[in-house]
Amino acid sequence: MKTIYLTIPSLCLAAVAFGAKSPEEAKVYADVIQPLFNAKCVSCHGEVKQKGKLRLDTVENLFKGGKGAKADIIVKGNIEDSELTYRISLPKDDDDVMPPFEGPDTFDPFSKAQQEIVNWWVKDGASLEKTVAQAPASVQEEMKKILAKPPKGKLAKKAEMKVIKLPEVPAVSPAALAKLESTGVLSLAIHKGSNALTLNALPVQKTFGDKEVASLGSVAAQTLWLNLGKTQITDAGVASLASLKELRRLHLDNTKITDKALATVAKFTHLEYLNLYGTEVTDAGLAHLKGLKNLKKLYLWKTKVTKEKAEELKKALPGIYINTGWENEPVAKVVAVPEGAAKPAPKPINKICPLRGKPINPNQTVTYKEQVIALCCGNCKAAFAKEPEKYISKVPEFKLAKDK
Ligand code: HEC
Repeated sequence: MKTIYLTIPSLCLAAVAFGAKSPEEAKVYADVIQPLFNAKCVSCHGEVKQKGKLRLDTVENLFKGGKGAKADIIVKGNIEDSELTYRISLPKDDDDVMPPFEGPDTFDPFSKAQQEIVNWWVKDGASLEKTVAQAPASVQEEMKKILAKPPKGKLAKKAEMKVIKLPEVPAVSPAALAKLESTGVLSLAIHKGSNALTLNALPVQKTFGDKEVASLGSVAAQTLWLNLGKTQITDAGVASLASLKELRRLHLDNTKITDKALATVAKFTHLEYLNLYGTEVTDAGLAHLKGLKNLKKLYLWKTKVTKEKAEELKKALPGIYINTGWENEPVAKVVAVPEGAAKPAPKPINKICPLRGKPINPNQTVTYKEQVIALCCGNCKAAFAKEPEKYISKVPEFKLAKDK
């Protein structure tokens, strides 16, 4: 059978897996910083898109800089003047921050520790030869973490999820389609131009039962995804689905099915996703699933399956994700930390309140452009936080990371 691969090409970042290198052989730029760019920046600064005329996919492109920064992208030895370090250090609400904040699902900035790595690298002269082992301990630990587990961007992860394999199936006959539609089940092509169908009984879940389910046999060859969640189907109805041999995803959650139904499900050898949430299935039913070698996701929350047997199935089907709901149980106790003891307060850079000219209270601080400014009282703090631009010139200790 031919297989069609659906991918989202613009988001597909070349992910090359090397075995983790030792700190002695791993280069700071090539093995630590470039992978960070690949995960967090290249979706907008690479071959496909070049926002701000900047590419961060190769070191040559990096040093060329972009439209505004040009060679100032990296001023060797000087993090204050380097556009790169400046942009990644900005707070998320700054217009110039990189990556730009476009919503919590996609925002994936450099962590503080990752910023420190880039800062150190630029300060140290942006060498392409230095190895991780040659970096100071203060940044080496984080570098080792990146070597052991190269970062994956949120965007890259999303793209991976969208890679779906679809078999080619014959077109459904108009008569079969009409019959299906008369049941009230929603049917859609899985993607444009494909004969493969996704069926959803959601609109008729209150009335859709064993009698109705029998009609799905007419589209058995085309049905890859089937959602029967919350319908009235029982074990007998599932048995009548036996001809749906192409099924990849099946929702039977919140139905009256029992272990018996899983004997039928065991015949769906292509099955990749199975949702049994909120059913009466037990360990005995689970035993039927051991042969489903393609199964990648199994939902067992609120069933009678025991943790032990779920673990056993995990061993039989390597790579499977089983959602049991048990992972939602608290595992660690929260240790009470006396207030104020959690973190030492960051040290302010100034001694005099920029609003009133009085000595500062070190507990009344505002962080502005990565620098901690202290005020004399809560009122001044609120006023400063509201309009920092207005008062910042009265803080002689404040240095702009870069004049804009
Ligand atoms: C969602 C898209 C997007 C992502 C992700 C992104 N950028 Fe940008 N970047 C832009 C846009 C748009 C511009 C042009 C506007 C501007 O200069 O702010 C830009 C401009 C820049 C510039 C200025 C270039 C110049 O010469 O003017 C730098 C430096 C930069 N980005 C660095 C980064 C870094 C480092 C990352 C990863 C941490 C990153 N960007 C991630 C969209 C993005």
